[in-house]
Amino acid sequence: MMPDNLVELQAVTKIYNQGQANEVIALKQVSFTVARNEMVCVQGPSGSGKTTLLSLIGCIFAPTSGRATIGGKKISRLPDHFLTRYRRELTGFVFQHYNMLDHLTVLENITLPLLPLGISPGDRVRKADRLLEKFGLSHRRNFSVTQLSGGELQRVAIARALINDPPIIVADEPTAHLDGKLSREVVDMLASLRDEGRTVVIASHDPIVSAHPAMARIIEVRDGIILHQLSGR
Ligand SMILES: Nc1ncnc2c1ncn2[C@@H]1O[C@H](COP(=O)(O)OP(=O)(O)OP(=O)(O)O)[C@@H](O)[C@H]1O
Ligand SMILES: [Mg+2]
Repeated sequence: MMPDNLVELQAVTKIYNQGQANEVIALKQVSFTVARNEMVCVQGPSGSGKTTLLSLIGCIFAPTSGRATIGGKKISRLPDHFLTRYRRELTGFVFQHYNMLDHLTVLENITLPLLPLGISPGDRVRKADRLLEKFGLSHRRNFSVTQLSGGELQRVAIARALINDPPIIVADEPTAHLDGKLSREVVDMLASLRDEGRTVVIASHDPIVSAHPAMARIIEVRDGIILHQLSGR
């Protein structure tokens, strides 16, 4: 059973390179919750801490201090192997710069997150083909990811985030490289994941994202703190 709040951050601070000359306090005592099956948008200028906040939610790393509970699992002060496990079980991450492996095909990139899970090759391909079909990418299945358009690449990134069927989807600037029409398609796609029962957190300063009818809240981040939260339309 999933808890009522899939994301619970309490006074969370994230410091990069702590104690070194290049130390950066990226988040300062941030408290923030996202309910199960909610879709929220995180806004803020470049360098304000959006990707850092999403990385905490996506179990990419634990906070430097404070409490973070994701999908009911406390991830603060956890050994790395637990963090890795929760990342795989709970979250799908759509990265700001896609993070595709260029020497692999679309299909291979999508199945990548399944490799550590001991799923048979046949099942891996079947899961990926279902997602390729869902996102209208079947005809690009065996293409190198370097041969895709921006819109196609963004859909591959979303498909890869979904391959382990996670309850939480985190998408970092998913429309940054797309025109208006494609942006709307991508947000509709993310909203449909919410309609399937997932919890969706998107970092974006694109009004097409923040004004989407399915957006429950808009969180404004500035210099590592949450300035305010507005309810969506
Ligand atoms: N790996 C890192 N090591 C050191 N500092 C980092 C690292 N990642 C981010 N930072 C710093 O932390 C702060 C917040 O960065 P973050 O990437 O979260 O911002 P952002 O809001 O996502 O910005 P953008 O809109 O440009 O993507 C910035 O000052 C950045 O330089
Ligand atoms: Mg960012």
